[in-house]
Amino acid sequence: MKGIILAGGSGTRLSPSTNCINKHLLAVYDKPMIYYPLSILMLSGIKEIMIISTPEDISRFEKLLGDGSSLGISLHYKSQEEPNGIPEAFIVGEEFIGKDNVTLILGDNIFYGQGLTNILRKAVRNHKGATIFGYRVKDPSRFGVVEFDEERKVVSIEEKPEDPKSDFAVTGLYVYDNRVVKIAKKLNFSARGELEITDVNKKYLEDGQLGVELLGRGFAWLDAGTHESLFESSEFIKNIEQRQGFKIACIEEIAFYMGYISKHQLYEAGESMKKNDYGQYLMEIANRKHVQQYWDKIDQNPGLGLIENE
Ligand code: G1P
Repeated sequence: MKGIILAGGSGTRLSPSTNCINKHLLAVYDKPMIYYPLSILMLSGIKEIMIISTPEDISRFEKLLGDGSSLGISLHYKSQEEPNGIPEAFIVGEEFIGKDNVTLILGDNIFYGQGLTNILRKAVRNHKGATIFGYRVKDPSRFGVVEFDEERKVVSIEEKPEDPKSDFAVTGLYVYDNRVVKIAKKLNFSARGELEITDVNKKYLEDGQLGVELLGRGFAWLDAGTHESLFESSEFIKNIEQRQGFKIACIEEIAFYMGYISKHQLYEAGESMKKNDYGQYLMEIANRKHVQQYWDKIDQNPGLGLIENE
């Protein structure tokens, strides 16, 4: 399974903050926004990941994350010339995807909740057709909306409907089989001038191959695309981190618990940022006496907060 993070767009809803920096590089509390979707792919067990952004911004992502070796993963970069819509990621990433299945996550989507790791790992592991994730929202008209029957089979899916058939938004996390590349290439532009991910999902639905996983009320799904939601996301992350003493979407910590990097590498990553809380946190984990690879326990005790049971 390959992973793609789509981190393009002009970010006009966040200007002037985004006039000279890509939105996905702005901080959500104590780390760049892109760490959040990257952590989700890492927690799903995906190790080969492509970041797609604009031609101007791609080198900044490369500067931030490098080739991924410091996280024990492999990162690739490609630019999308024009913001032609989400499914273009599969066309831009065709060569990278090769014959594999692919999970796509939007660069401004933040997911948090107990059990998410398990749900994702299951979706990634048993993959056939498409799996999308539904989340109840107050304002479904802003999103793709999924309607399903009592057996949770999808009945319809519509992009930003005026009159939504359910309160369930389609989140920006999608797991597809390799067919998605062909499907993306056959799409037509929508009225808003984009290739629509909803049209990809509709095709899987027509073929009887669209599954939906509902993320319940115990989950948080935030998008950090406006001033208000960026601030709220930062507050949310800060509150949980400060209360629990765990960091959310701390990619070095995840790499360590996944067994991708050593204690020594974790310590070094922390030391390079030792003047701040983020670096000190990494050094503190590396210094713990009873640090064990307890990743196998995550199946019984899942959650992005990575519960340490020393
Ligand atoms: C896009 C998709 C929409 C989905 C949303 C999730 O919307 O088109 O179906 O619900 O992402 O964040 P957009 O960001 O283009 O408004």
